[in-house]
Amino acid sequence: MSDETVTIRDNSTGKEVTVPLYTPTAGPKVIDIGSVYKELGYFTYDPGFMSTASCSSAITFLDGGEGVLQYRGYPIEQLAENSSYLEVCYLLLNDRLPQKDELDDFINTVTRHTMLHEAMIRFYQGFRRDAHPMAIMVGCVGALSAFYHDHMDIHNPEHRMITAFRLIAKMPTIAALSYRHANGKPFVYPRNALNYTENFLHMMFSMPTEEYTPNPLLAKALDLIMILHADHEQNASTSTVRLAGSSDANPFAAVASGIAALWGPAHGGANEAVVRMLIDINRSGKPLQDFVDRAKDKNDPFRLMGFGHRVYKNYDPRAKLIREICHQLLNDMEATDEQQKLLDTAMALEKVALEDEYFVERNLYPNVDFYSGIIFLAMGIPMNMFTVIFAMARTIGWITQWSEMMSDETSKIGRPRQLYNGAIDLKYVPIDQR
Ligand code: CMC
Repeated sequence: MSDETVTIRDNSTGKEVTVPLYTPTAGPKVIDIGSVYKELGYFTYDPGFMSTASCSSAITFLDGGEGVLQYRGYPIEQLAENSSYLEVCYLLLNDRLPQKDELDDFINTVTRHTMLHEAMIRFYQGFRRDAHPMAIMVGCVGALSAFYHDHMDIHNPEHRMITAFRLIAKMPTIAALSYRHANGKPFVYPRNALNYTENFLHMMFSMPTEEYTPNPLLAKALDLIMILHADHEQNASTSTVRLAGSSDANPFAAVASGIAALWGPAHGGANEAVVRMLIDINRSGKPLQDFVDRAKDKNDPFRLMGFGHRVYKNYDPRAKLIREICHQLLNDMEATDEQQKLLDTAMALEKVALEDEYFVERNLYPNVDFYSGIIFLAMGIPMNMFTVIFAMARTIGWITQWSEMMSDETSKIGRPRQLYNGAIDLKYVPIDQR
């Protein structure tokens, strides 16, 4: 795999180890440190994985310096313009774009797996009415592992494909039911005549008492947002899915662990946090600069939500596209004054931050979550559902990454080590003598 090497030298003993240096098809070269412990007796230390490639993968490429994102080699801009979410799912899973009949079959199969087992539907009744829909989603996706385990062989590619179909198909149903439960609204079954995103809107918003026709503008915008969230390399939630799955765990349980990781405000939870922040700014009546100053103050935990990214040190290419969709949608839908005010505040905040030395020096740009929440609000989606939609879209990425790992014969259970700095060799003191 590699002709190049890197030599790591221990200056105190003079001992050296020469390790392979791999050249990827794109991105920085990678030092294979797998033999360092065996040869030198040392671990490597990289909290937060700042310099660590945790696996090799052929699914998604991103160049944070240039603001590039590609799925299976196709730039995200091209897919956003020409493709659909389900075609992108096909591409990610199969490593190529489908022929027309292949795509039709794929869509047909996904459409026919959207129902949940009736027993699953009763699970929802066990959640408190005010439960966060992400909590419900973690529980319900984990619960799928109790429904699909008997005949599943995770080492069989066909079974993995069936798992992928089940997840992609059922996720919108699980997501919409989380919302219906929290709102005390009757559960709505999927309708096969609708496309993927129309069906989600139908399950979210239709009432048994009235005809409901999903708005095609909203369905199209949602489809685009789903494309942009479909995969993102080895981020926190994807790495969680891989780590959980590396023990040969049930894939539904592994994906549930990814949903849990996504929930935090530093990751997928940021879309909800951004809108809450924009509302706070508008309500406060204070100048934007006050919030920018707070974000810069190291004694204040406040951060500009939707700004900054571990990998992008340039404008997040997804944020660029989402900003356009946001403008377009608010324009086409004749936004309410409140929605327009949120967008105006977001744009003004972006401008102030991008001209501020602190943000410029640290390469802090708007990320994917900065504008998406405003679009969701315009769709009538409540704030606590934003991250649920992110999870619904990212499911294809998680399951494709899991499947890639399972098909890699060299992959092992993930088992990091540590730099231990706790106490050692203490002598137990009986409780009455402490
Ligand atoms: N507001 C103010 N300062 C920030 C921000 C921010 N949003 N983001 C980073 N910084 C500062 C940070 O304080 C640090 O400054 P210094 O070098 O002086 O200590 C510097 O920029 C580097 O930040 P970091 O926290 O060390 O970088 P990281 O790669 O560990 O964190 C991040 C990345 C996304 C967690 C962080 O930028 C952040 O908390 N952003 C806000 C939350 C957010 O929008 N998350 C969504 C991420 S994109 C979608 C996704 O992953 O799901």
